[in-house]
Amino acid sequence: MKRRPIIAANWKMHKVTAEAKSFMAELLPKISDLRNVDVLICPPFPLISTVDHAREGTNILLGAQNMHFEEKGAFTGEVAPAMLKDLNCEFVILGHSERRWVFGECDTFINKKVLSAFEHDLIPVLCVGERLEDREKNQTDQIILNQLENGLKGVSEQLLGNIVIAYEPVWAIGTGKNATAKDAKDAIALIREFIHSRFGTATAEKVRILYGGSVKPENIKTYMEQDGIDGALVGGASLEADSFAKLTIF
Ligand code: 13P
Repeated sequence: MKRRPIIAANWKMHKVTAEAKSFMAELLPKISDLRNVDVLICPPFPLISTVDHAREGTNILLGAQNMHFEEKGAFTGEVAPAMLKDLNCEFVILGHSERRWVFGECDTFINKKVLSAFEHDLIPVLCVGERLEDREKNQTDQIILNQLENGLKGVSEQLLGNIVIAYEPVWAIGTGKNATAKDAKDAIALIREFIHSRFGTATAEKVRILYGGSVKPENIKTYMEQDGIDGALVGGASLEADSFAKLTIF
């Protein structure tokens, strides 16, 4: 089955309003002819509306970088799923390694967020990936499988087909040291096999699985040529309109 590729921008904690506006103004003409690729932009919370207005009349998809799983309440500094829906978000990145390793989010917490996102009609972009020490101890597969097993608990087969999963090895994020195409392909095959074993063939064929970690215009093609890799989740190279637009051509 041919899945529609996604090139996703994770701006992380970058840009202010004027920069988001000029990025969008520069990007739109560069990707106006794009037909067969989904483009997803995940700005920081304060810029979601700016990007939403700028994308009007285009097919650009909009996502947040995180959310809380509760509906509402005394959770200072947090953002609820309904707030993201209210801002027209369609996607939400969950379990990004920076959330796991910098902010201490565990699989149980991430699982609650995945379930809550589905309940609120938001599509999770669930990130999984091993640290360098895990890889050096040959624990890559086990780490990824644990993150999937725990992160996807309780998700129905029908909903799971819509999820996007990003394989992002922690050691490749923001380091310039991208994973080899073979390493990315192998990890993504492992993820698809896990989905196959738990959720069946049709779901495994439908789920889009991306690679993330130092993806740039110079290396996007090597990933997109691999069987099973359905796109990329991009940090640094998504911050300039020109390099981000180049990532959509592979
Ligand atoms: P870089 O593309 O900057 O390595 O970041 C990857 C990432 O974390 C995307 O979510």
